[in-house]
Amino acid sequence: MPITHCIFDAYGTLFDVAGAARAAAATPQGAALSQHWAHLAAHWRAKQLEYTWLRAITGDHADFHQVTQDGLDWSLEAMGLDGDPALRAQLLDLYRTLPAYPEVPAMLQALNDAGYTCAILSNGTPQMLSDAVTSAGIDGQLDALLSIEDVGIYKPARAVYDLVHAHYGTATNEVLFVSSNGWDAAGARGYGFNVLWVNRAGQPVDRMPHKPTRIERDLTNLPHFIKEF
Ligand code: LAC
Repeated sequence: MPITHCIFDAYGTLFDVAGAARAAAATPQGAALSQHWAHLAAHWRAKQLEYTWLRAITGDHADFHQVTQDGLDWSLEAMGLDGDPALRAQLLDLYRTLPAYPEVPAMLQALNDAGYTCAILSNGTPQMLSDAVTSAGIDGQLDALLSIEDVGIYKPARAVYDLVHAHYGTATNEVLFVSSNGWDAAGARGYGFNVLWVNRAGQPVDRMPHKPTRIERDLTNLPHFIKEF
C-alpha cells in the first residue's frame, strides 16, 4: 500500500536537542558552558532517554518534562554545575523552544503539498510539543501532535506506536515513521511501520532485531523519495 501518513519523532529528528545548551553557552549567564555545552547536551540527552527506558520497565511513569529535568540535574551535578539555579532555569526554558533543523519547514511543506498527512509521535508532553512546534513555526504543517502521555509509557513500547492507528485508523504499511533515534527506528520497524532512520550523527546501525527500511543523513530529500517506500 502506498504511504499516506508521515509520522515524525520530535526530539533529535525535527528539533535539535543540543540547541538549548548551545544557545545558553552563547549568553553571559551561560558562560560556564562555553567550552562544555556539547558535553552537557550529550549527557543530558543520554540520561533523559535512560530514565524513559527505566521508568517504562519499572512502571514508575513520570512525564517527559520531569524526566528532562531529572536528566539535566544529573548532568549538571556530574559536571560540577549544579550550584547555579539560574543556569538550570535558563536551560529548561530554552528546551521548550528548541530550534527545528534547517531543512524541516520546507520538507514538511513539500509533503503537505503532495497530500501526505504529517504528524508527530513523541515522548514529549502535549504542552512541550505544542510549545516546540509553535516556536519553530511548523504548527500549521502538522496535523496532530501525538504524545505518549495518552498511554503513560515511553517508546519503544508497542502501545506508543498503536497511537497512530488509534488516531488515524491507518494500516502499518500506510505509515512512514521517521526518527533520528536508532532505537526508536528499530522499535517502529519491529512494530511494522516503514521506517526512515535519519542518521544525523553518522552512527552505526543499532544491534536490534529490526533494521530501518531506509537510512538518510537528514530530511532534505524525503519528499522526493517517499514514493519509493
Ligand atoms: C521523542 C524522543 C524519543 O521525541 O526524542 O519521542
